Amino acid sequence: MSDLVLYSTSGDIAVITINNPPVNALSPGVPEGIAESLEKAAADSAIKAVVLIGGGRSFIAGADIKEFGKITSGQKDRGPGLHPLLSALENSPRPVVAAIHGQAFGGGLEVAMACAHRVAVAAAQVGQPEVKLGLIPGAGGTQRLPRLAGVAKAVEMCQFGEPVKASGAQQAGVIDRIIEGDLLEGAIAFAREIAGKPVRRVRDRNEKLGTAEENEPIFEAARDAAGKRQRGLMAPLAAIRAVEAATRLPFEEGVQEEARLFRECLFSTQSKALIHVFFGERTVAKIPGVPKETPIYTIRRAAVIGAGTMGGGIAMTYANAGIPVLLKEAAQDALDRGLNTIRRNYANSVAKGRFSQQVMDQRMALITPTLTYDGFNQADIIVEAVFEGMGLKKQVFAEIDDIARPDAVLASNTSTLSIDEIASASSRPHMVVGHHFFSPANVMRLLEIVRGKATSKEVIATSMSLARMLGKIGVLVGNCRGFVGNRMFGPYRREAQFLVEEGADIEAVDSAMFEFGMAMGPLQVGDLAGLDVGWRIRKEFSHLEVPGVRKPLLEDRLCEMGRYGQKTGAGWYKYDENRRPSRDPVVIELIGQVQREAGISPRSISQQEITDRLLYALVNEGARILEEGMALRSVDIDIIYLNGYGFPAYRGGPMFYADTLGLAKVHERISGFHKQHGVLWTPALLLERLAGEGKSFSEHDRAAAVATA
Ligand code: NAI
Repeated sequence: MSDLVLYSTSGDIAVITINNPPVNALSPGVPEGIAESLEKAAADSAIKAVVLIGGGRSFIAGADIKEFGKITSGQKDRGPGLHPLLSALENSPRPVVAAIHGQAFGGGLEVAMACAHRVAVAAAQVGQPEVKLGLIPGAGGTQRLPRLAGVAKAVEMCQFGEPVKASGAQQAGVIDRIIEGDLLEGAIAFAREIAGKPVRRVRDRNEKLGTAEENEPIFEAARDAAGKRQRGLMAPLAAIRAVEAATRLPFEEGVQEEARLFRECLFSTQSKALIHVFFGERTVAKIPGVPKETPIYTIRRAAVIGAGTMGGGIAMTYANAGIPVLLKEAAQDALDRGLNTIRRNYANSVAKGRFSQQVMDQRMALITPTLTYDGFNQADIIVEAVFEGMGLKKQVFAEIDDIARPDAVLASNTSTLSIDEIASASSRPHMVVGHHFFSPANVMRLLEIVRGKATSKEVIATSMSLARMLGKIGVLVGNCRGFVGNRMFGPYRREAQFLVEEGADIEAVDSAMFEFGMAMGPLQVGDLAGLDVGWRIRKEFSHLEVPGVRKPLLEDRLCEMGRYGQKTGAGWYKYDENRRPSRDPVVIELIGQVQREAGISPRSISQQEITDRLLYALVNEGARILEEGMALRSVDIDIIYLNGYGFPAYRGGPMFYADTLGLAKVHERISGFHKQHGVLWTPALLLERLAGEGKSFSEHDRAAAVATA
């Protein structure tokens, strides 16, 4: 027998211990090992019952996700999956007690549910999180769970994939007993109690399956919730259907239906995209040349300069992570405003029941407002979030140079300026790094970590680890204008404007992206973020404009009319007091006027063209960023778009989306736009090369990883 599963006995009880660290995933060899141990127990007449337990920190955290890719790429056949093991557990002549600590997720819970009984420690969690990977439980989970927990609970768990604590699972009927003290001892004692008593297999327990009348409203409500909270996703609907099958079909047929739905999900692009994202989140932490052992600075105290939109959110982010933070402003009124906003945001969360007043008070107490640099010499990190302007940023970095400890990380939250130039104002450019948060900084998960040419490895490693401490996902990017996310967003929003200038409806442009799965359309985003931001930047950088290259006209005109978006009650749309948008005839008239001035004859534009123009603008710029080394891998770009820009996870990110279409097709379309619209659509060289070689961005990532390994 392999070491993946260990067999021992404790008197008349056999103990099967899964030993596949770190989380006892059901990798090849584990199910077989459990089955062999069961046979051993069955062959030993001294054994009365069996305990199945996980070694290390968990029961079974789920399937081995790498295996899914092997099946979909044709390297491996799924075969009967876990079902032979589940039958063996279910039909074992010695009743099996699953003893759960840590997690019983996915296949782990399915294994536990095939046992005669389940016991758990209070801190254990169970769940069917497959939906998060675009899948449904594939080993009877959708059939056994409703038999244990009832239909409503089973639908909820399979549809949303959220973990359930042991106490909740006991209440629902999934767990028979919570064990106080040592789990193994408790489980063995429980096994002795039930040994020799008749066992009712979970598959035979139909009493919680309800009637069609009782169930119909449950399924309807679930579908309704899926439409609202899981827009565009297939797997939740498949999960609901599978549980529905449990209520309508005999067990074996329900299992067949589950298998069919599982397969449909497994081979879907959505699941491949979500699995790409799952691994992508781990990949972005790997930085060539900055190995895991790189020493990091300990961050115990922080200081933030500027208590505006971003500085306030950043201070909250530190306080939320339990890190005390000084918050400095230039003037008392700005400081008061900043602090009031923070207080209001926290109070909102308390009102919504996200956390208690006590938690709010603790967090507020961690934020110390100040107008001076007193105490900055204690800070392990100083984050600058003053107005966007090179002169001011350099002045601030020169000031902190005199005060900060030599080993303090000096971060700028600039969104457009060069980190190298900012660092030039410091006598220690190796300590300077960009920490580009996204608004609202206390909510958005993305942190672009901008590497200047002098930024040290230690500062990069510290920033990556700090991102995790702050509950963010850090992605390392190069120092170029707009870094990765905003640099790509430029062409995307540019095309949105061009499309309107050429005749597309404002609503058509926004709804094309909404239907694609984006949280919001590009023009709505402009209105939300403030059209004046880009307008000011364009004015500041007008000397960089290339004569003869088309530039968008409409947003500048909207700004000239004082229409900055939601904050002025009007932008692309007009807004009522509840910020509900509606079409504004003034804008329609403006569009006509701009078309006449620019000599554009409006044409009708298909939804397909809108979608292609917007998304391929992202992809082409992304390819250029990759080619310049400003992002380490295409998956880094994807993770940025999912966490900072509302790109739908089930599309995998813009670069993965391009892969799913095929780069040859994407390149051909971009070349067409190039012919039609000129230089702004010059295909990126990397895209051209990969398309020519019949390769994908993912393959490019893998080749790059091999080259740097
Ligand atoms: P903001 O205008 O809301 O806040 C800037 C604050 O800095 C003001 O409260 C101002 O009083 C304060 N300030 C100016 N000089 C100061 C000094 N010498 N000492 C202390 N405080 C000083 O601006 P916002 O939006 O918070 O932007 C700050 C930085 O974050 C900018 O570099 C911006 O480009 C960047 N950023 C902004 C994002 C956004 O969505 N607003 C997103 C990501 C980055």
